[in-house]
Amino acid sequence: MTEREPLLAALEWQLAAGVNEVVGFEPADRFAPPPERKAPPVPPPAPGAAPVVAPPAAAEPASAGDVARTADLDALRELLLAFDGCALKKTATNTVFGEGPAGARLMIVGEAPGADEDRQGRPFVGPSGRLLERMLAAIGLGREDVYIANTVYWRPPGNRTPSAEEVEACRPFIDRQIALVAPEVLMLTGGAAAKTLLGTTEGIMRLRGRWQRFGTPGGPVDVMPTFHPAFLLRSPARKREAWRDLLAVRARLESGAP
Ligand code: URA
Repeated sequence: MTEREPLLAALEWQLAAGVNEVVGFEPADRFAPPPERKAPPVPPPAPGAAPVVAPPAAAEPASAGDVARTADLDALRELLLAFDGCALKKTATNTVFGEGPAGARLMIVGEAPGADEDRQGRPFVGPSGRLLERMLAAIGLGREDVYIANTVYWRPPGNRTPSAEEVEACRPFIDRQIALVAPEVLMLTGGAAAKTLLGTTEGIMRLRGRWQRFGTPGGPVDVMPTFHPAFLLRSPARKREAWRDLLAVRARLESGAP
């Protein structure tokens, strides 16, 4: 037996056990406490000089208040890149912030980045994104006309559903992103986005197609919950209902009223 055979057998065993994703090349102890952050050394004051005030030990992680005070999307992105409060960041390759024009009239929010989004650092660029683009084209919109984001900013390993804690940690960022884009219409794709942002336990089957409101500091935004493109790829018969939702969004954008 060569050295290669046992290694291949071990890999096959892992595949059979359902391991289909490499999230890092070094083993990591996820239960270890975070390393202590030390304050930089303060040089002794020169004779007769005013006392030196020590700098804070470390930058505080972004609080919901910091997030809510960001002036624009660039500042929000910077804060998100420095934010370590969501465990998903540790296993993701990229942070997937939203993209699109800051003043877009339509904003779309999905659940979480998948493998393609994680690789490219952009939302909705995989198969779901391609269907989303075709859906938008059907109502005369291009991807470049809309602002696209997710309720969490890092890919959950193996595309699992983000936990309530992970969604909660990211929540101030999506709230602020919506407030800064200030769209006329917010389209929530899938049950996860709808439940998170509408604060409801109702499923997407009941929610879709019914206008809702989302409160922002600038005033309420009209919300259309609809099916997630990934669900439509698996259940193409439901495209008829999604089409009705898109027509309602188009009519709202054309007339200014739901
Ligand atoms: N699914 C989502 O909800 N968001 C993406 O960005 C990609 C797939």
